[in-house]
Parts: sequence; C-alpha cells; structure tokens
Amino acid sequence: MKTEVAIIGGGPSGLLLSQLLNQAGVATVVLERATRDHVLSRIRAGVLEAGTVEMLREAGVGDRMAREGIPHEGCYLTDDDLMVHIDFKELTGSSVMVYGQTEVTADLYNAQDALGATIIHGVEEVVIHDADTDAPYVEYSLDGARKRLDCTYVAGCDGFHGVSRKTIPEAKRREFERVYPFGWLGILSRTKPAHEELIYANSSNGFALASMRSETLSRYYVQVPLTDKVEDWSDERFWTTLKSCLPSEVAEKIETGPSIEKSIAPLRSFVSEPLRWGRLFLVGDAAHIVPPTGAKGLNLAVSDVHYLYQALIDALKKGDTTGIDAYSERALLRIWKAMRFSWQMTTMLHQFDGEDSFAAQMRKATLRHLSQSETARRDLAENYIGLPF
Ligand code: APR
Ligand code: PHB
Repeated sequence: MKTEVAIIGGGPSGLLLSQLLNQAGVATVVLERATRDHVLSRIRAGVLEAGTVEMLREAGVGDRMAREGIPHEGCYLTDDDLMVHIDFKELTGSSVMVYGQTEVTADLYNAQDALGATIIHGVEEVVIHDADTDAPYVEYSLDGARKRLDCTYVAGCDGFHGVSRKTIPEAKRREFERVYPFGWLGILSRTKPAHEELIYANSSNGFALASMRSETLSRYYVQVPLTDKVEDWSDERFWTTLKSCLPSEVAEKIETGPSIEKSIAPLRSFVSEPLRWGRLFLVGDAAHIVPPTGAKGLNLAVSDVHYLYQALIDALKKGDTTGIDAYSERALLRIWKAMRFSWQMTTMLHQFDGEDSFAAQMRKATLRHLSQSETARRDLAENYIGLPF
C-alpha cells in the first residue's frame, strides 16, 4: 500500500490531522492499535480553548459542538472557603468550551467516514523504517499478516506509549520530565454539576476539581497518593473527600449519586525534543504530556496539528518545505509555555507528600494574591483560554 502521509495513532491528534489533510486532497492512512470502540470509550479532558474550537470548525466538525458544547466564560480557583473568580470574558474577551474529548473523537470519526478516509484498526507491531531518508515506510501486522505502507511523510500521533518517539535515535533527542507524587482519581456521575463554572480547589485536605460534561453529567476529581487503587475508593469515600476539599457553600449543596466511571491517572510533565527526525513528525502526547490541571493536553495536540497540517500540504502540493522545516521550533515554543502554565497550576493547587509547612503558605499566598490582583487574574486567564498559535 502507498500513501502521502502515514499517520500512526487514531486518537484526537491523528484523526484531526488526517481530516485536515484529506480535506485538502492529501492522502493519508491512519494505523490505530486499538478498536474504534475502545478509542471512543476513553474518557478524558473536556475543556477546549477558543483556538481549538476554531480548528475543529475548520476541520468540518463544529456543528454538534456548537449545539451541545457549553461555553464557559470563567472558572473558580478556591482556597478552603475563599473563592476566586477568574472572569475569562472580562479579562481577555475570550472564553472556552466544555465539550468532552470523547465527543470530539466521535465527531472526527464520523467526519472521516464521510470523506471515505482509510483508518486501519487493530494493527500490531508497528515499525517505522528509513524515516531519515526520502523513502520512509511503515510495517505492521494485521490479522497475523505482515504489511507494508510506503509513504512520503510519517506523522507520529501514537501517544506517550507509542513507537514513534522511540524511532528517533536516542542520541538525536532530549527528554525533559517531572513526575508528580500524586494522581487524580476521577469519577463521572449522572448528577447536576456542583456549579455552573469549573472549580479548581486547593484545600487543607488536598486538591479537587469540580467539572462537568452537561447539565446532568458531572466530572469530579480528587488528588490521591500514587499507591492508591480504584478499589480503595468507594463512592461514599469519594464524595466525603470531595466535599472536604470544596468550599463549604458548594459542598453543602452538592448532588451526589453513583459513579458511572472511576479511574486513577498519574500526573506528569514531559517533553521530547525535537519533534522532527527526517520525514517523521511527532504530534500531541507522542511528544509531550502535561498534568491535567491546566486542561492543556488536548489543546496542545490541536496546536501541534495546526502547525503541521498546512506545512505538510505546502510540502506535498507546492514542494515548499519551509513549514515543515520550522515545525518543531514553532510548536515547541507554544508547548513550553503550556508546560509552564500546567506546572504552575499543579504546584499552586496540590499538596505534595512530605512537603514543609512553607509550601502550603505559598499556595495560600498565591491564591490570596489572585483574589486581590486583576493583573494576576488576567495572566492566569490569558494562559487558560489559550495563548495565540
Ligand atoms: N501503533 C498504533 N497506534 C498506537 C500505538 C502503536 N504502537 N500506540 C498507541 N497507539 C494509539 C492509541 O491506541 C491511541 O488511540 O495512538 C493513539 C494515541 O492517542 P492519545 O494517547 O489520545 O494521544 P493524542 O491523539 O496525541 O491526543 C492527545 O488526547 O489522549 C488525550 O491526554 C491526551 O488530551 C491529550 C490528547
Ligand atoms: C475534565 O472535565 O475532565 C477536566 C476539566 C478541566 C481540567 C481537567 C479535566 O483541567
């Protein structure tokens, strides 16, 4: 088989890139390890920056998002009972959209179907060959048979555990990492959200986040030690802990109910540089991971696609390689700024195991300062709604 761009991974990065390339008449083949149902059942983040919303519209998947997404013009950061309102609209003129990644992925699959795109599920043992030459190709196994896909470029959209990043020789890449000493225990419940806006809570009992998917579907998180297992957390224990972290005026009114999903995710900051090796380009989680505290994971994947898709079209249709030559540097500038913001939000809002008493005072002082300084709130809002591409 032969194509122009071989895309490894059919998560949000791979699907969006494929969709934008196909719309411009560029041929792609997406190779995805999991089944379509598996990809569509993963519950992940839910906050889209305005730039992400714009990109999804450009990809022709804006309609359902416009109908079902919930625009959010602000959020709260709290410190025990102190509630600091961050008014995105007033501070920046912009806002974000709450629309689950699961929905984004479903919309992209439907749009790809409508274009007749080639997405191969259930591929195993993917190996990228000769990426540093003019004739790269990808080998993979499907139903026990070994297959070969020749291509002009390879896009590595296969997430943190994929093969693309590791295809780049160790001597040619640099990795930067911070692993946080806690995870997030998240639940989904068919209950009315605690508040109409998201609440990021710092408290003497640790971090919590009150989020949502719709007017009747809530998403909540609390920080947990990395050694905890989902089985350690009954729904009752979860609700009690959540309430102990939220401001009492919110906790008193919160609607509780059975969880319909419960999982623990570790928190990590990670960047692998550069994003290009010959004809291979890394996109999204394959190249970088942020802790979820700033809601930047999916948005960063989309900004990588933003920089890459037009560059690939220019290279393939006009022979102009300036875009692909600049891709890594341009994308990394924005990635590092989102890294900094996610790290800052994480540090400002979580209890670190074994921390000294000074650390808790720093969090409190930061939140007090935010409550009193419009300048500080504007800085946070500007980063939260998404820095320009
Ligand atoms: N071969 C083929 N596919 C693979 C391989 C492989 N060796 N390894 C992983 N994959 C697939 C995964 O099954 C997954 O569907 O690649 C896809 C990668 O998707 P994500 O991990 O979602 O990464 P990305 O598309 O970059 O999206 C980034 O979405 O997952 C969230 O937290 C993440 O919000 C961030 C954003
Ligand atoms: C979510 O709704 O899942 C969510 C929202 C905001 C975050 C992280 C996760 O920062």
